[in-house]
Amino acid sequence: MGLRKDFLWGGATAANQSEGGVLEGGRGLSTIDLLPIGPDRRKVAAGELEMLDWQEDYYYPAKEAIDMYHRYVEDIEMFAEMGFKVYRMSLSWSRIFPNGNDEKPNKEGLAFYEAIFQELKKHNIQPLVTIAHFDVPVHLIKEYGGWKNRRLVDFYVRYASTVLQEFKDYVTYWLTINEINVLLHQPFVGGGIVFQEGDNKEEIQYQAAHHQLVASALVTKVAHEINPENKIGCMLAGGSHYPYTCKPEDYQEAINRDREGYFFIDVQARGKYPNYALKKFQREGLTIQMEAEDEEILAASPVDFVTFSYYCSRTVSSRPEDYAQATGNLFPSIKNDYLPSTEWGWQIDPLGLRNSLNQLYDRYQKPLFIVENGLGAVDRPDENGYVEDDYRIDYLKQHIQAFKDAVEIDGVDLLGYTTWGCIDLVAASTGQMSKRYGFIYVDRDDEGKGTLNRTRKKSFHWYKKVIASNGETL
Ligand code: BG6
Repeated sequence: MGLRKDFLWGGATAANQSEGGVLEGGRGLSTIDLLPIGPDRRKVAAGELEMLDWQEDYYYPAKEAIDMYHRYVEDIEMFAEMGFKVYRMSLSWSRIFPNGNDEKPNKEGLAFYEAIFQELKKHNIQPLVTIAHFDVPVHLIKEYGGWKNRRLVDFYVRYASTVLQEFKDYVTYWLTINEINVLLHQPFVGGGIVFQEGDNKEEIQYQAAHHQLVASALVTKVAHEINPENKIGCMLAGGSHYPYTCKPEDYQEAINRDREGYFFIDVQARGKYPNYALKKFQREGLTIQMEAEDEEILAASPVDFVTFSYYCSRTVSSRPEDYAQATGNLFPSIKNDYLPSTEWGWQIDPLGLRNSLNQLYDRYQKPLFIVENGLGAVDRPDENGYVEDDYRIDYLKQHIQAFKDAVEIDGVDLLGYTTWGCIDLVAASTGQMSKRYGFIYVDRDDEGKGTLNRTRKKSFHWYKKVIASNGETL
């Protein structure tokens, strides 16, 4: 007994971190385009610093990214060479609706993605499409304040329905919103939200969350109407929380932090708000506007499968002073002395992946898909431009073994695995190119210098064998 015969091996990217060409083909600006590299990035991402236009003196890495906009043919050819069965990608909302709410879609944008899908088809690679990956058209932020405004539901549904219809002959696996729980940690990235003085931040975030959840359910319904074969997934920024000590209060803290993420998936997979969330709103006086029909909308269209990203686990405590030893970035975490760390302080924990798979499967009893996993590391090409990334191979090997254990020993139903950044791309958290995940090296540095040439790393050849053996040869 091993992985299923039709296990979907592949890699993942997102439009905003790879395409570039941000003003080409009639595209409008979107959130990530406005995140500069440097110390202000985090403030903009958190919605604490308003920067809704490009500023002089800042460098915006998404502008050209890795120029996939012009190079996708070559890139897909290399994915095919590795034997990819699936390629996870996202569509850029503002490439298709430049303002986010235009009456008609931008034909050039649609044609661009159709060309990609044709290319994938040529190589027998199945697309797994994220409809919105950290992506809110800037016009919708300026005019409506992003997802905190209910109008975004209609605009998103119009956009999603358009692409579901347009690409129905090419795509059956769809994800509605990438890492939906990031909304609570980076509200600008997750929801196009910029806070004003005096805002009740938590209330705004949960209001935006409600809109996204309703929108996601509506789109799931439309997707099934367009093609009953369509498989619609939700997407969680995964990684469980460990209690710092076995003190019951620390364990309770870990449960509560897990629930911050599960909250979204509970609604998307089970079709209703969990009691602990409703109680929290009540207790903390958070007023979330819900329309009469929302309950029914959520109940009618749960997702077909559950996907998540997994890079690391996190460690939490009930005592604020324990966070003096904080590590990682997006989610607060205390350093776990049992685990090694990446150069960016993300703690490497393959067993945590197996445990996460089990937790998610126990909770939802739906097929799972690991849609992101990988090691962000600095690569140093030798004099011939070759990267011997044994550290990356080692990380991936351990994580693949972990998910095989979850399948073979624990009986988890796992559809597939797409490594993050199968080709080097711009890091979402830092904007760096030097934080590389790829099997394919892209000659580009943190200042935007380099030829953008692509080179196969050692891991490229290794992953090809992994796929060919359906995970038997690691
Ligand atoms: C996830 C995102 O948070 O992690 C990706 O879905 C992101 O967009 C990835 O790139 C890795 O994070 P980073 O910051 O290293 O790029």
